[in-house]
Amino acid sequence: MKAIATTGWGLKPTLSLIETDAPGRLKADDVLVAVHAASVNPKDWKLNYNLAVAASPVMVKQLKPLFGDDLAGIVVDTGPNVSDFEIGDAVYGMDMRLRTASLAELTLIDQRRIAKKPENLSFTQAAAMPLAALTALQGLRKGKAEAGKKVLIIGASGGVGSFAVQIAKNLGLHVTGVCSGRNTDFVRELGADAVIDYTQGDYRHSAGEFDLVFDVTSYETPLTCAALLGKKGYFISTGGDGKSMLATPLYRLLGKKAGTVVVESYRRDLETLKAMVEAGSLTPVIDSVFTLAESEAAYNRSRSGRCRGKVVINVANA
Ligand SMILES: NC(=O)c1ccc[n+]([C@@H]2O[C@H](COP(=O)([O-])OP(=O)(O)OC[C@H]3O[C@@H](n4cnc5c(N)ncnc54)[C@H](OP(=O)(O)O)[C@@H]3O)[C@@H](O)[C@H]2O)c1
Repeated sequence: MKAIATTGWGLKPTLSLIETDAPGRLKADDVLVAVHAASVNPKDWKLNYNLAVAASPVMVKQLKPLFGDDLAGIVVDTGPNVSDFEIGDAVYGMDMRLRTASLAELTLIDQRRIAKKPENLSFTQAAAMPLAALTALQGLRKGKAEAGKKVLIIGASGGVGSFAVQIAKNLGLHVTGVCSGRNTDFVRELGADAVIDYTQGDYRHSAGEFDLVFDVTSYETPLTCAALLGKKGYFISTGGDGKSMLATPLYRLLGKKAGTVVVESYRRDLETLKAMVEAGSLTPVIDSVFTLAESEAAYNRSRSGRCRGKVVINVANA
């Protein structure tokens, strides 16, 4: 089968299209999926597999050398414990703990990490969802998002942010999105009640107070957002660049509410998202679509930090 593998030792791994064996024997809870589409997440290019193996060969032994986490595709085989999925089912999901290896024509994934694909989405659209939409849902939940509360979403136009705005509206929150000027109309169209252009001055001291500040850029910390949080606000970060991971425990020592979301793939959450999509209140936004052979270009697009929604790679007919 065709797949994308990483080569090279630099901080920027090279992605190569290779011919490799199809996955081996299915474990009891495994589902074999013919992948139609996968999507790109910043974590893919922040971690160089080869460096990780060199640094910690035992820990990373289980990590698959093939790239890609999100997938949407068709079930082509099932392990003996699998009763909720049948050959021919269209599914979507991810297994981030071991890396799904979804940039491949076939991949194995645990049945607990997938759900049936939303009926009204193409495979390309469905593949855009799992990691980013689960992060948005779980981050809002961790920040005790509830109807009527005010949330500020920093990074509202990107992969996670474009889902967070829509999911927060689904949950009945008053949403203010932070993005650059070129994305303000887009974030309003996603449903935000108010939009702040971060290029027009330091809003962190002038935008008022919020019940929840959800920083999906991971550039901010509870300390840089102290004025936005007031006395009772909750700060949640996606923690991507590590700064807030250091500041969050300090902030908690001061008795404040802060946390980092670490996304997990649970079928019930994928089903919650599927229900929102099928009800018409959540739609994945696709920044750009590439073929498997164009994976390097797809990763470069993600590395640019300027994506509006998600970068998707169509795997089928590679
Ligand atoms: N902990 C976890 O489980 C988890 C899960 C998912 C993601 N993450 C992390 O979360 C971060 C975001 O992921 P993503 O997929 O959403 O990334 P992304 O799609 O690459 O985000 C790009 C977006 O960020 C916006 N942006 C850049 N600088 C900004 C700023 N100063 N203020 C506000 N918005 C800004 C850009 O908008 P403009 O072009 O308008 O600036 C663009 O729309 C990454 O660091 C990722 O590693 C962590």
